[in-house]
Amino acid sequence: MKLWGGRFSPGKRDPDFERFSESFSVDQRLVLYDLRVNRAYVRALGAARVLSAREVRALTRGLDAIRRYVESHPNWARGESAEDVHTWVEARLEREVGAVARKLRTGRSRNDLVATETRLFLKSEISNLLSAVSELLEALLAQARKNPRAILPGFTHLQPAQAILFGHYLLAYFEMLWRDVGRLEDCRVRANELPMGAGALAGTAYRLDRARLAKELGFARVARNSLDVTSDRDFVCEFLFACAMIMTHLSRLAEDLVIYSTPNFGFVELSDAYATGSSLMPQKKNPDSLELIRGKAARVLGRLTASVALLKGLPLAYNRDLQEDKAGLFDAVDTTRDSLIIAARVVRTMNIHPDRMKAATARGFLTATDVADELVRRGLPFAEAHEQVGRLVRHCDERGVTFAEIADREARQIIPAWGVRLRAVAVSPELSVRRRDVLGGTAPAQVSRQLRAAERRLRALRRPTR
Ligand code: ARG
Repeated sequence: MKLWGGRFSPGKRDPDFERFSESFSVDQRLVLYDLRVNRAYVRALGAARVLSAREVRALTRGLDAIRRYVESHPNWARGESAEDVHTWVEARLEREVGAVARKLRTGRSRNDLVATETRLFLKSEISNLLSAVSELLEALLAQARKNPRAILPGFTHLQPAQAILFGHYLLAYFEMLWRDVGRLEDCRVRANELPMGAGALAGTAYRLDRARLAKELGFARVARNSLDVTSDRDFVCEFLFACAMIMTHLSRLAEDLVIYSTPNFGFVELSDAYATGSSLMPQKKNPDSLELIRGKAARVLGRLTASVALLKGLPLAYNRDLQEDKAGLFDAVDTTRDSLIIAARVVRTMNIHPDRMKAATARGFLTATDVADELVRRGLPFAEAHEQVGRLVRHCDERGVTFAEIADREARQIIPAWGVRLRAVAVSPELSVRRRDVLGGTAPAQVSRQLRAAERRLRALRRPTR
């Protein structure tokens, strides 16, 4: 069945092109949205007196029967073929209710139809993604609660920098993902406009109550321009950006944990459930879950770039190119959701080794800044203090000793003020952490305050009204 046969000479068809142009294999995923939008649309046609009450009843009965069939047959699409899901529904409806089905597409186009369905799909997937994100947020907070005192080296350039609390580290990812929540919610606001009634491009010629239709389909507003809304896929690009950003954050977390779970670091150990072994080397425990998340981030980024490239050369309004939006969108939705779910489980089940973290703070001169700060407190200009401590670090480094191991006598030759107090500062990452008692800093008081605030934010996110 074709929805556009009349104008074309029969017999001129290339099955290869038909295969090339079909989208049923992809957009069949929208079938329930197609049925729902058609049902609301049929009622709107009835209200506009374009269809009689009987016709409306027959069509809605047919659409409902198809919905029940689809819902009770997970493999409903097996062996079926059609140009796209809209064509399939129309053909199937004719089998259900007969000739009246041919009135279904009065005044509407697949252009406003597919735009409407894609927006509905996106709104619902955004809710799913938000709950997947909140699983991961909860897992981060659970680890932070479990290890309130764990202290580890913080890095810049992946070189030891300053000591931080593990909770502070985890809350950094909480903040990144929290911004992703905001991005998804923003995207939902803009996707929340009704295309139906825009027709193919110029607006329908039937007097439909679009505002009522919007309400019935759960849209906040009617789209204000029919040309725009039938060819706009900004909301897809935006959404894919939100997904790519989520995946980028997951990928950074994955990279950290890959490093932290090497025996050389040993800060964390993945649960056996999320690691794999080697077929050759019996000792191996590889963090494949994290590597796959990192790898899948590349894939979602690719989907984002494809979506923007898809739009950049399109003249108004609809062009068939737009059919290519869905494969990438669906793949990105699935990949991002699955990655979030696995990341949440990896984080929730990983074992933390605070002893190894703490031991690592002994190397790398993490307290060098604190020693310099202590000299500043005694009246030295910071630049001078920096110079003195830098010389001490070089000296220790050449001798292969830590601040804790250097003799006072030797240290005093480089830092004349060296004594009990400076040594205490130099050997205490805890003190270093406690000193960073500024809003957003790593001091225990600040971190536990941020942790409590994060718990409140997450509870609000999870309230069903949102
Ligand atoms: N399968 C098409 C898509 O996803 C539906 C719209 C087709 N419209 C058209 N005028 N050929 O974009």
